Amino acid sequence: MYIAFEGVDTVGKSTQIERLRERFSDVLVTKEPGGTALGEKIRAILLEEGEALARSEILLFLADRAEHTERIVRPNLHRLILSDRSFISGIAYAHVHDNIEIDTLLQLNRFATGNIFPEHIVLLRLEEETLRKRMGEKSSDAIEMRGIDYMLRVQKSMEELIDLLQIDHIIVDASEPIDTITETLYSYIKDCNR
Ligand code: TMP
Repeated sequence: MYIAFEGVDTVGKSTQIERLRERFSDVLVTKEPGGTALGEKIRAILLEEGEALARSEILLFLADRAEHTERIVRPNLHRLILSDRSFISGIAYAHVHDNIEIDTLLQLNRFATGNIFPEHIVLLRLEEETLRKRMGEKSSDAIEMRGIDYMLRVQKSMEELIDLLQIDHIIVDASEPIDTITETLYSYIKDCNR
């Protein structure tokens, strides 16, 4: 079962994934970008250099996603896969940054993944004030440098996309206490796994 954790930076995706991995057996934890050897190189180009043209950037994320889907996700679909990000990030960040139509981005993602998509999405979301506070406490990568307004629009776009595609999902307030979130997500994933 393939579950993607989504949300903008600082919502706590990786923290929750780490906590949940201990609660399940036969779980595979992975991420985009950077879940494969080639993906790690692509990730470094994208996040450290930050100078690719908008279209080149999308294609690099898609190359990472193609590698990740074929080499990591597809062979492990019989296991519980918890992935930090997925095509939802791919479409939302690109749609807001470059104004490319959702349909076009969907087609590109279908090509990259061979139509393998997460069956369930965990979306962690934050209100503007908390997001501003958390972002102010850390350094930003090339994409986060686009600012809080960009991230808020990406967050909204993620919600709209999940609705549009009618993927089974849970939306969690990421400002809740960390243990509460873990318990909520544990129950959700257990139910998905039945
Ligand atoms: P992260 O690994 O810390 O989540 O960072 C990945 C960054 O890349 C984050 O700012 C979101 C962004 N991103 C995109 O712009 N497009 C994508 O397709 C993906 C997967 C991530």
